[in-house]
Amino acid sequence: MDEEYKILVADDEAGIRDLLRDLLSGSFNVDTVERGDEVLDRIARDRHDILILDLQLPGMNGIDVLRVISEKKVRVVVVVITASNNVETAITAMKLGAYDYIVKPFDAEKFLVIVKNIVERLELEREVDTLREQVGEKFRFVNVIGKSQAMLKIFSTLERVIDTDSTILISGDSGTGKEIIAKAVHYNSNRKQYPFRSLDCSTIPRDLIGSELFGHEKGAFTGAVSRKIGKFEVSSKGTLFLDEIGNLSIDMQAKLLRVLQEKEFERVGGNQIIKVNTRIVAATNRDLRELVKQNRFREDLYYRLNVVPVYLPLLKERKEDIPLFIDHFLKKYNTEFGRSLNIDIKARMFLTNYQWPGNVRQLENVIKRLVLLSTEKVVGPDQVKALLEFEDPAAPGPGDGDLEAQGTLPAGGDIVSMDEMEKAYLERALEHFDFNISSTAKALKISRKTIHNKLKRYGIVIHKTTVV
Ligand SMILES: Nc1ncnc2c1ncn2[C@@H]1O[C@H](COP(=O)(O)OP(=O)(O)OP(=O)(O)O)[C@@H](O)[C@H]1O
Ligand SMILES: [Mg+2]
Repeated sequence: MDEEYKILVADDEAGIRDLLRDLLSGSFNVDTVERGDEVLDRIARDRHDILILDLQLPGMNGIDVLRVISEKKVRVVVVVITASNNVETAITAMKLGAYDYIVKPFDAEKFLVIVKNIVERLELEREVDTLREQVGEKFRFVNVIGKSQAMLKIFSTLERVIDTDSTILISGDSGTGKEIIAKAVHYNSNRKQYPFRSLDCSTIPRDLIGSELFGHEKGAFTGAVSRKIGKFEVSSKGTLFLDEIGNLSIDMQAKLLRVLQEKEFERVGGNQIIKVNTRIVAATNRDLRELVKQNRFREDLYYRLNVVPVYLPLLKERKEDIPLFIDHFLKKYNTEFGRSLNIDIKARMFLTNYQWPGNVRQLENVIKRLVLLSTEKVVGPDQVKALLEFEDPAAPGPGDGDLEAQGTLPAGGDIVSMDEMEKAYLERALEHFDFNISSTAKALKISRKTIHNKLKRYGIVIHKTTVV
């Protein structure tokens, strides 16, 4: 159990207060109070998570305390203690929102089970809270950009099914926006106050996927030291995003199919049937039908998943969206890095006609780097070209046809300091121009003097004979 949780014991009998304190203080932060009219002030002051409430208290009885808690929506989970001849009142307490009740004289073990269940529930609530904080307004549909026919069609499909329980299958190349669509579905649906979880079927080791998805019981296998609640269960009422579903092993496909059909499963090593109402959004960058043909993906599962198909085209196939993306990412990174960079029309044209092998993610990274690195107010085409060339000299430029190119930019998640980034960029630029200061300065649109200052600042030494 968790010492972070605070429990308030409200009982007028010193014996019960001491007993409960002994029972709980190893695992919790325990306070006690004798009078009913002090309970609410104590909770307001010390923010207890759990209240153990005797129903007969001096000052204010337990039922009245509960009434105020429910009216004022005080966030505390209440367990009431009642005498054996007063179970009726305990039921009233439950109707007022108490979590459970326990009859005196009580069984310590039973009591601890109740508390343990409460802790599990609090853990879940906490996760939902952090998620809400993280998300804020981030994943409104307004943040999913697109005005191309393909994107408009996707928006209208999603609008129609958003509040249903339909499974959605998103396919598209790397970086086309599968995950942002999955999140947008969840956070715009009536499931948004429940958890969104994702599982990347391509990175989790095969033998761990079962327990990640369905959880396991203590002792289910070596290393299962305690019960684990799987993602299906955590995201019940919410959404589970199964990324790279094409990588799921055949035996896991069978298990997943069963859950989709029956909406229930057992934890690994357990026999209790767990019922869930989890919405599945799956994504793949492979052609699942092809995998079905090759007997690597179950056809019945494919049909179960493909209830609402959403296909995200390559970025170069929806060029109308590129100008929107440029503005969107410029605004995002200007705000993030406190800049006010703009991109001139020629550079925008270049960006719009580029092939973007890494799709939207690559475009986003390019804009981010420009915002971070540019020393000027407006970026021109040369800087953009230079940046793309450094990233991958072999990458197809505009009009280079439909070359099969790999994702060329680093995934971009790791943020390094601007100095580090600038230093690395400068080094690569210098290398590209054979350490010719004049050419490098020209390409980066800064003066030779600025380059020399930066070399000094970053401790970059160039052998005299190569400096021009
Ligand atoms: N329509 C869009 N609107 C706004 N941002 C987008 C859009 N599409 C993609 N992005 C941004 O591009 C980046 C890549 O998108 P995302 O991670 O959703 O792609 P993915 O298809 O899941 O890629 P991968 O297959 O590599 O996992 C993200 O930072 C995302 O925010
Ligand atoms: Mg993804």
